[in-house]
Amino acid sequence: MTIGVFDSGLGGLTIVATMRSLLRGAQIIYIADTANAPYGEKTKDQILDYSIRITDYLVEHHRIDALVVACNTATSAAITELREKYPNLIIVGTEPGLKPAISHSVTKKVGVLATPATLEGEKYKALVAMLSNHYHVEVFEQPCPGLVQQIEAGKTDTQETLSMLEGWLSPMRSANVDTIVLGCTHYPLVKESIAKVMGHPIIFVDSAEGVTKRLLFLLEQKGHINRGSISLEILATGNIQSEMIERILGEKFSVTMLNSI
Ligand code: DGL
Repeated sequence: MTIGVFDSGLGGLTIVATMRSLLRGAQIIYIADTANAPYGEKTKDQILDYSIRITDYLVEHHRIDALVVACNTATSAAITELREKYPNLIIVGTEPGLKPAISHSVTKKVGVLATPATLEGEKYKALVAMLSNHYHVEVFEQPCPGLVQQIEAGKTDTQETLSMLEGWLSPMRSANVDTIVLGCTHYPLVKESIAKVMGHPIIFVDSAEGVTKRLLFLLEQKGHINRGSISLEILATGNIQSEMIERILGEKFSVTMLNSI
């Protein structure tokens, strides 16, 4: 099976790390669209355009069997259109894990960190409306503009990043939030900094395992046998920090530059 995966940059590699530990008999082609990052501060139309171009490229040049949109922002902006355009392709998106977070929370106060575009998206709003009808929970939503840029630059625990987090997290800390949804695939890379700023034990919810298990289920329905080796090729449309790739995946990877998509 050939699986195309994309994100605006390094973030989707947090999902690829889990895919590499659970999937076998597959080759992964990862595209980091760093020339257009951050997606979370772009319009829906721009994000839709990037997502369609990348998918077209993966279908035409790599004949992918499945696509993982390893980005909450692109999932929110483009998954419906991608499914319409490619009805025969297995497509798995990434969404903030608010439902599992509500069930883990003891204080019933849950924080959601995501990009501005994800929190403004219809998909997320519908999810919150549906869940708040069913559960007695207080949800603290926090867009984090600028955080993706810090992470892409490798500044995951600098003083500047910690003070950005301090501003966003202090209302959650005072309210005794005990569970935080990492609603952007970049944010698991600042988990330790978030925990430090919160100052009390936090349950983190990210989407890597859920996305991988859903992908495996859909692949197996199409006859995939989960045995053999797994390979990974990384392509980028702009600059990317190779030290961060090594930190996320635990080994060095060379990156192929993609000049035009
Ligand atoms: N990693 C992406 C997400 O999950 C997008 C980050 C960005 O480019 O703003 O939302």
